[in-house]
Amino acid sequence: AYTAAPFVPEGADLPALRQAAGGCRGCPLHRAATQTVFGAGSTDARVMLVGEQPGDQEDRQGKPFVGPAGKLLDRALEEAGIDPAGAYVTNAVKHFKFTRAEPRKRRIHKAPTLREMTACGPWLAAELALVEPELIVVLGATAGKALLGSAFRVGEVRGTVLEREIHGRPERLVPTVHPSSVLRARDDDRRAAFQGLVADLEVAAHALG
Ligand code: URA
Repeated sequence: AYTAAPFVPEGADLPALRQAAGGCRGCPLHRAATQTVFGAGSTDARVMLVGEQPGDQEDRQGKPFVGPAGKLLDRALEEAGIDPAGAYVTNAVKHFKFTRAEPRKRRIHKAPTLREMTACGPWLAAELALVEPELIVVLGATAGKALLGSAFRVGEVRGTVLEREIHGRPERLVPTVHPSSVLRARDDDRRAAFQGLVADLEVAAHALG
């Protein structure tokens, strides 16, 4: 089975973990991607945001949520009263997965498989063990399936505080939609979609106290 486990150093701090993740060959996604995009933020962060996988911009820059979805996420966080700079931001999968409609054309995001999410799980587990966030914000269905299992349905639990054991630790989680889904919404639905994301993040802000 694909797994990152042999690449995750034991007892490492966050910088050492990030460096090791740069050499991960735990699944085939490293071959086509530019680089590993590890989580960003402080070990002192009270909230950890978990997305799906890096996008085109993140793959080029090596940082999570720096592209259009990240900009929208930052605006939504600020509106909900969560300081984006104080959050730890990461993804369920640490390499960009994509296809091209034609050679040398634009890279089109492709959803990671359950095998790839499972393979990448040891990195997320290591991040959780080091950061020990008070709350995890789950951004969309892929992150939800990676953290809570394949039965996860974002529509059923968004905007609620869940208590679950994740990678052997009791965690509190607030699921919401992925910020990309707001970008993809039709013009006349986008404002409501954005406000829905903000409302869920307000639940997270309240849970943080
Ligand atoms: N979408 C994600 O899920 N993660 C990123 O880092 C960027 C876009």
